[in-house]
Amino acid sequence: MPGRIPRTHLIYNFSMTDLPLAGRIALVTGGAVRLGRALALGLAARGANLALHYNSSETAAERTSEEIRALGRKCLLIGADLRQADSPGKIFAAVAAYYGRADILIHSAAVFERGTLEKTSPELWEKTLAINLRAPFFLSQAFASQTEKGDILFLADSRVRQPATEFLAYTLTKSALVTLTRSLAKSLAPRIRVNAVAPGAILPPPGEDEAYLQRLIPRIPLGRPGSPDDIVRGVVYLLEAPFVTGEVLHIDGGEYL
Ligand SMILES: NC(=O)c1ccc[n+]([C@@H]2O[C@H](COP(=O)([O-])OP(=O)(O)OC[C@H]3O[C@@H](n4cnc5c(N)ncnc54)[C@H](OP(=O)(O)O)[C@@H]3O)[C@@H](O)[C@H]2O)c1
Repeated sequence: MPGRIPRTHLIYNFSMTDLPLAGRIALVTGGAVRLGRALALGLAARGANLALHYNSSETAAERTSEEIRALGRKCLLIGADLRQADSPGKIFAAVAAYYGRADILIHSAAVFERGTLEKTSPELWEKTLAINLRAPFFLSQAFASQTEKGDILFLADSRVRQPATEFLAYTLTKSALVTLTRSLAKSLAPRIRVNAVAPGAILPPPGEDEAYLQRLIPRIPLGRPGSPDDIVRGVVYLLEAPFVTGEVLHIDGGEYL
């Protein structure tokens, strides 16, 4: 038939080199479970080899790394407690020994614990700031010193636009990550792009069930909670957007509005 596209032109054979993150090495903190796991698998499915950090979830980390290897990618497992001030250096020493370098750093590890001004103890303050802010800061410092060209991705939180009062130390750390995203985007350009995603209601916090998310629906314009895949898509977009840096992408169904 005239003008008809031959069938062979419609078939696209995806080889490894067509995958957008092929050959890149991604370090994901808190990568054993929940959003970190989804991000690690999402990057592996797009061609990246992984350095998967975990703390207490060793068995889950092994399962996630098996799934990554089943996709044909490499996966280095690194156990480290981010409350320890020397953990960023140790993590990057392990990455350097195995891969030589990392190209992508995704900060997913965090603690999310309730505490108003009155109820925030010095222990909660120290722990939250150490894991959610100090570790991302010094991991980024170590990454920037060993990477010629790459990407840093922070996980902020859409609530920083409308700060809640019950998770005060947590919210302060996530607000600080937004500032860190913009500061590092300037100081590390053009070598390293630095962006963040700000998730809304995606997974109920540990100890809560689906009802927790259902209660949030009235304040979400799109009328539903999000999924880990929504976060993976946002992160992949930012990793593939070469003219974007210093951006904080809200993935929250419009909740921040
Ligand atoms: N879930 C949501 O709907 C949502 C919404 C807004 C923002 N976020 C942000 O998105 C990111 C991922 O969310 P999530 O719900 O998947 O997080 P999560 O389940 O609360 O925890 C993520 C990870 O933090 C790690 N972690 C905790 N304490 C640690 C320590 N002392 N040292 C090292 N790692 C430690 C845990 O590792 P182990 O399990 O190995 O101990 C866990 O894998 C977080 O930064 C979170 O603040 C999530």
